[in-house]
Order: sequence, then structure tokens, then C-alpha cells
Amino acid sequence: MIEFLSKNDAAAIARIHKENLPGILSIYPVSVLKEFYELQLSNASKNFALGFFENRKLQGFVFGTYRVDEIFNDYIKSAFYYFLFQTFVSFLKNPKLLVYYLKAFFSKKRSSFCPVQLVYIAVDQNSKKKGIGQQLLDAFENELSRNNINYFELEVEQNNPALRFYRKNNFETILEINNWMEEKFLLGKEL
Ligand SMILES: CC(C)(COP(=O)(O)OP(=O)(O)OC[C@H]1O[C@@H](n2cnc3c(N)ncnc32)[C@H](O)[C@@H]1OP(=O)(O)O)[C@@H](O)C(=O)NCCC(=O)NCCS
Repeated sequence: MIEFLSKNDAAAIARIHKENLPGILSIYPVSVLKEFYELQLSNASKNFALGFFENRKLQGFVFGTYRVDEIFNDYIKSAFYYFLFQTFVSFLKNPKLLVYYLKAFFSKKRSSFCPVQLVYIAVDQNSKKKGIGQQLLDAFENELSRNNINYFELEVEQNNPALRFYRKNNFETILEINNWMEEKFLLGKEL
């Protein structure tokens, strides 16, 4: 069953995120991710998330925003010293974090054309390939359509197997980001 998620679901979202998504946030402890989602889901005018529940347990989620340019800054501003401390600790444990920050820094020049973005979608390891991701994406698109949005974008690593999932769902490549720092696609979809 698909439901809107609230900040009370942040811990469950954070766990699925940490275990399943590539990218910078997964390097941080679950507590940072939980705070990130608590903040994002407190602002319903900018962001929303939908979750798939089975036996009242969250099995997957999709998180989207109407203001992709603001979500990370909002979080860092709200918890600056905590985030700085966690970045330092995470960096000691995993120096790869520095590479991610360099990537983020260099990719700043390329901003998305569209503020509406599917930021994260993930399904728990044991529940993958059962159609849950598809149901989440369909529900996400319905929610955008209900709000009169007819186009959105997302970013995906070129080597992410999820790319096939997006291709199957008729996403088109808007931009190929191909340099020594990163290999990603910006994909877009008309609704
Ligand atoms: C991408 C993801 C959300 C898909 O969820 P899912 O529940 O496994 O997907 P579904 O079962 O709904 O699959 C829908 C269709 O996409 C295809 N598909 C899904 N994941 C795929 C993969 N990794 N490789 C190839 N095809 C895939 C399925 O085969 C299915 O096609 P079919 O209907 O013809 O069989 C899931 O694999 C995931 O959590 N990935 C890790 C997180 C991630 O990288 N997210 C994207 C970040 S940009």
C-alpha cells in the first residue's frame, strides 16, 4: 500500500536510503539521514515523499522536491555545526567523502533546468524486483500531475542499474555529464 510519508517516517526512510542508495548522503550515519528527512518532510510546500508499506513496514520510498536548488542548503543551514562535525567524523572513516565534495563543487556550475526533481527512489534489498519501484514511480508522477506539473527531472549515475528502470519508463537524456569528476545523466520526463 502506498502512503504519503511524514517526518515520523524519517528513521525508516533513512535506513533504506543508507542501505540502498549510492551517493554522498549514504556515507553519513543514519542519524544524519534521519535529520535530513525530518527537515525535508516538515516543509510540505517544497517536498514530499511516498512510501510502500507491507505489514506496516516501509519497503521503499520516493522523495521529490519542487525546489531542488534549496534542499541541501536548507539542511546544512539548519544543522550547520552538527553537519560539520559529522562530515569530519565520516571523512576520517571514509576519505571517499572528499571526492564526493569535489564532485559537488565542480558540478555546481551545471544547475538543473527544472526545479521539480525526483531526488531519491529506493526499495529495500529483500523487496526489489517485485514491482514496488514501479508503483512508487507511478504514484510520484500522479502526485505531480495532480499539482499540474507536467515535467520533472532526475540525476542518475551512468553505471547505476536503475538506469534501465528509468529507460523503461520513458525518461529522456537531457544532459550527459561526462568529465573526470563524474559520469551522470540528467534525465527528464514529460507527464
Ligand atoms: C531502481 C529501483 C528503485 C527499482 O525498484 P524495484 O522495485 O526493484 O523495481 P520494479 O520491480 O518495480 O521494476 C520495474 C521494472 O524495471 C526493471 N528494473 C528495475 N530495477 C532494475 C535493475 N536494477 N536493472 C534492470 N532492470 C530493472 C524491472 O525489470 C521491471 O521491468 P519489468 O516490469 O519489465 O520486469 C531499485 O532497484 C533500487 O532501490 N535501486 C537502488 C537505489 C537506486 O539506485 N535508486 C536510483 C537512484 S537515482
